[in-house]
Amino acid sequence: MSGQKTSRRVRIFKNRDYLSSKIIPEELPHREKEFNQIWENFEYILEGSTPSNLIIFGPTGSGKTVTVKKVLESIKREAEAEGIDVPIGYAVAERTEMMTLVSICEDLGIGVPKTGLSFYEVKKRLLEHLSGRKAIIVVDEVDKLILQNKGIDLLYFLTRDPNICVVGISNVVTLLDNLIDKRVKSSWNPRKIVFDPYNADQMFDILKYRANKAFYEGVVGDEVLRYVSAIAVQRGGDTRYALDLLMMAGDLAKRSGEERVNINHVKKAIDELEVGFLVKTVKSLSNPEKALLFVITEAKRNGKYLSPEVAYTLANVVLSNISNQTLSHRRWSDYRGSLELLGYIGLFREGLGRGKGWHHYIKLNDTIDAYVVYKTLEEDFMSYMGTEEYHVMLRNVLNGIARSARKWQLKL
Ligand SMILES: Nc1ncnc2c1ncn2[C@@H]1O[C@H](COP(=O)(O)OP(=O)(O)O)[C@@H](O)[C@H]1O
Ligand SMILES: [Mg+2]
Repeated sequence: MSGQKTSRRVRIFKNRDYLSSKIIPEELPHREKEFNQIWENFEYILEGSTPSNLIIFGPTGSGKTVTVKKVLESIKREAEAEGIDVPIGYAVAERTEMMTLVSICEDLGIGVPKTGLSFYEVKKRLLEHLSGRKAIIVVDEVDKLILQNKGIDLLYFLTRDPNICVVGISNVVTLLDNLIDKRVKSSWNPRKIVFDPYNADQMFDILKYRANKAFYEGVVGDEVLRYVSAIAVQRGGDTRYALDLLMMAGDLAKRSGEERVNINHVKKAIDELEVGFLVKTVKSLSNPEKALLFVITEAKRNGKYLSPEVAYTLANVVLSNISNQTLSHRRWSDYRGSLELLGYIGLFREGLGRGKGWHHYIKLNDTIDAYVVYKTLEEDFMSYMGTEEYHVMLRNVLNGIARSARKWQLKL
């Protein structure tokens, strides 16, 4: 009996890994130009010169990481073939510059303990390891280090060294305007390479290529790939999202015992990913971001908008409960900025009448599911405090929302 079941098992995936970001595919359709641009620059290291510093911009899922990694791989291969020793370090920026530096060291194969060493000491070990050789160091998602001015020492240290080619990758195109430190600005001075978002035809080609490797023949038709491409392009050309959708749609088809992936599987996958994605990203926010988002979400759930000042005051009520601190309105406005950047909230204004100026309000973006955010934060907050404390806090916040909305005579 069980043998029969196995033989009837639906065969959907040939190699499911081909839909994940873990593998670097052999080909990168529609990124040949960018690949060559980066390769031509890095190639100088094989001639014994330091390649130009780079900053690589492009929206999420436009292939920045995979393209750079592929160029690095091929430089390594080339260097090996020519018997040249080229240290190459790649790291995704971490919460602090110390963690980022440690991560770079680890990638270079330098053993450093996670804690216990000073920044200075780790820097010294890195320089000892490089010992004057030409090197390439890539910091992915470098905006994490620049936007809150947290990575200046690290960037200065790396860029000041004439033997290190420093490459940043980011989806924040205005990043260099945010780099206020003059020293870093002039010592880094990177060349810009921009990855444009994929259009629907390009996305289709990419998905077709990946799907051919991932699924058995005939499992995913072109109409499904066209559909997924269109959705992903609406989302700013995010290939990762497209691949996630295909994987989830394949899982759903398999679960229901069907032999082909159809559009309905994709539609279900969209719903499943939406919630999962939101929960994951909300959980990864900092405490102040969570506190502010919570207040704005609760306002929305009660049909109201808050001015920034009231939102900050109420966010302090939440923050003091989860981490025993409060922040100035100035600091809060930075966190408001980062929530805006992440697409959770927006600021809008309402005229007070001719020549009388404006009221500003913060609102949760319509694309964000308020209920999911609320449930996620509620669960998260309850892990910091008791249920009873949580409800006291919630009541205070709700009272605050009701009070201030009345005061401003908002149209509800
Ligand atoms: N041109 C392409 N061909 C094949 N796969 C691609 C291409 N561009 C992106 N991908 C895949 O899409 C996903 C997201 O790409 P990634 O490089 O992580 O994007 P970014 O770093 O710009 O956010 C990865 O799984 C990557 O392999
Ligand atoms: Mg990336």
